[in-house]
Amino acid sequence: MSKSIDSNSAAPIVEAQGLIKVFGDFWLRDKARAVDGIDFEIRPNEVFGLLGPNGSGKSTTIKMLLGLLRKSKGKLTVFGRDPSDVSIKQRIGYLPEESYMYRFLNPQETLDYLESSLESHVKFARSGRTNFSKWLAWKVLLDVQ
Ligand SMILES: Nc1ncnc2c1ncn2[C@@H]1O[C@H](COP(=O)(O)OP(=O)(O)OP(=O)(O)O)[C@@H](O)[C@H]1O
Ligand SMILES: [Mg+2]
Repeated sequence: MSKSIDSNSAAPIVEAQGLIKVFGDFWLRDKARAVDGIDFEIRPNEVFGLLGPNGSGKSTTIKMLLGLLRKSKGKLTVFGRDPSDVSIKQRIGYLPEESYMYRFLNPQETLDYLESSLESHVKFARSGRTNFSKWLAWKVLLDVQ
């Protein structure tokens, strides 16, 4: 990991302290402790890698950073705000490990679909009836299935 000279003095972009995520089963009993009290900070200009064996909680941590999963305990902020805060979404880019494109659409149709889908959902989000992170969560869930 490399740091620029003044990155230590800047406010962290991501701050996790004692971050825990426990997945529950149907009866809300603890099923998997995916993230078990991790602490880290990412400051401006840092390139930060999350490394760990399979099942160690990397994807779960990223999903919490994106506001797609709620933390169970601990502190987690992105740009100083809760990851569910819609105002930070425009500053985040995310490239999923798998992309979910519809096989029956050609490239132009895929772009048209994404454009119209984004436009309508952004309008919906701005209307105050929902928020972008909720929409994104639903979209990811629906696209995965
Ligand atoms: N939705 C879920 N419900 C229950 N358990 C889950 C869920 N998602 C992940 N887990 C469990 O949480 C743990 C961490 O999973 P996670 O996918 O975050 O690991 P990972 O570090 O990204 O692994 P990999 O390197 O294989 O991608 C694993 O034990 C996994 O089985
Ligand atoms: Mg993963």
